[in-house]
Amino acid sequence: MKQDMIVILDLGSTENTAVARQIRDMGVYSEIHPHDITRSELERLENVKGIILNGGENRVVDGSAVDIDPQLYQCGYPMMAIDHPTAKCDRTFKSVPGKEDLKGFVFDVCQAQANWNMKNFIEDQVELIRKQVGDRKVLLALSGGVDSSVVAAMLIRAIGKQLVCVHVNHGLMRKNESESVIEVFKNQLHANLIYVDATERFLGKLAGVADPERKRKIIGGEFIRVFEEEARKLEGIDFLGQGTIYPDIIESGTKTAKMVKSHHNVGGLPEDLKFELVEPLKQLFKDEVRSCGVELGLPASMVYRQPFPGPGLGVRCLGAITRDRLEAVRESDAILREEFEKAGLDKKVWQYFTVVPDFKSVGVKNNARCFDYMVIIRAINTIDAMSATIERVDWDVLERITDRILKEVEHVCRVCYDMSPKPPATIEFE
Ligand code: XMP
Repeated sequence: MKQDMIVILDLGSTENTAVARQIRDMGVYSEIHPHDITRSELERLENVKGIILNGGENRVVDGSAVDIDPQLYQCGYPMMAIDHPTAKCDRTFKSVPGKEDLKGFVFDVCQAQANWNMKNFIEDQVELIRKQVGDRKVLLALSGGVDSSVVAAMLIRAIGKQLVCVHVNHGLMRKNESESVIEVFKNQLHANLIYVDATERFLGKLAGVADPERKRKIIGGEFIRVFEEEARKLEGIDFLGQGTIYPDIIESGTKTAKMVKSHHNVGGLPEDLKFELVEPLKQLFKDEVRSCGVELGLPASMVYRQPFPGPGLGVRCLGAITRDRLEAVRESDAILREEFEKAGLDKKVWQYFTVVPDFKSVGVKNNARCFDYMVIIRAINTIDAMSATIERVDWDVLERITDRILKEVEHVCRVCYDMSPKPPATIEFE
C-alpha cells in the first residue's frame, strides 16, 4: 500500500466525516470504522499509523454506552480520543477538534506521511482489486453516471477484459448519452462492453402509465430484469462492481453498527444470482470520485456532469410518456445544455433541465392556429439537494434558448421558466 492511514473509530459521533475530511485535507488518508471493529479486522488494514476514538455525547449510541474492544489497546497504535459535546450542552465547544491538535497527532505522534493523492489511491485500489478478483470476472452495470463510469475506468485499469460492462439504454437517456458511453468505454478504453437497447421494452411497459411512483417503479424494476437477463447469459462471473461511494455507506448519525451497509446492497438482484461485491470507490467523497475519474483519463464532460435521475427523462416527460413528448424533452434538453455551456453557465449552475407537461396549449404557427406542447426550463442551485434556489438566468440567454426550442423542437409552441424554489417545489417535477 502506498498510503499511510489514520483510522477513525465511530463511538457515536456525528462528526466522523468532518474529522475524516480534515485529515484528508492534510494529505493523509483516513477511514471511518465502527467502534466494534475487532483486533484482527484492524490488523488486516494496511499502513495504519494511528487511531482516533471519535466519541459523541457521553459515548452513547441508541441509549447504551459504547466502547472499543480492549484488545485494540494492545495493537500498539498511537491513539487520540475526541469527545464531541453537543452544541446544546456547551455552545463554546467546537464540535471538531482544533486543526493544530489534529495535525500534531497525525504528523508528530503518528509520524504519518502526507501521501494521500489520487495517483497513490488508484495504485492501491488496482492492487487490491487484482488481489480480490484474481483471474476471475467482474460484471458492472454501466449507466454512464459519474460513479459507475469511474468504477468502470478503475476496473479496466486493474483487470482489463476481465470486466464485463453492461450498458442498458432504457430509452430515457439524454441525447447522445449512450453513444458517448460506447465511444469512451468501448472505442477509447477498449472495455468489454455489452450494449442493450431496451427502448421498446421500457416504453411498452410505460405506455399509458401516468402515476409518477408507478413510472419510477416500472423503470427501476425493468432495469433490474434486463440486467439480470444479461447476467444469466454470461458465464463464470463471480463479482459485481458497484459505484458505492462514501456518503452511501456512512450514516452520519450515531448508529455505528449500521455504518457499513453497502454489502447488503446488491441492486435488487434475485437471491440465486450471488455475487461478491467490488466497490473501489467506497472510501471516496463525491469530489474525490471526480478527481479519481480525471486521473483515470475520463473526459471532463463525464466526470463533471450534473446529477441525472436514474429514471432519466421518464420523470421529465410528465404523466403517461408519449414518444413525441419524450423527443421534445430530449431535444430541448440538448439545446439548453448547449446554450448553458456557451454562456459558461454549465460550470455555475448545479442542475438544469427541461420538462414537458402532458397538456397542450394554443399557438399560431405559419399563420394558422396550432395546438402544441410546452417546454418548461428549470435551473437551480443547491448544496445538498434538500433545498434549492432558482438561478437568475440572464434574459438574453433565456431568449436565445426559447428561440431555438421554438424553431428546432417539433410539437412545441410555448416555453416557460420555472421560478419555484425547493421547498415547496421539488427539483424534479415527478
Ligand atoms: P427532488 O426532485 O427530490 O430531487 O428535489 C433531488 C435530487 O435528486 C435527483 N433525483 C434522483 N436521482 N434517482 C437519482 O439517482 C432518482 O430516482 C432521482 N429522483 C430525483 C434530482 O435530479 C435532484 O438532483
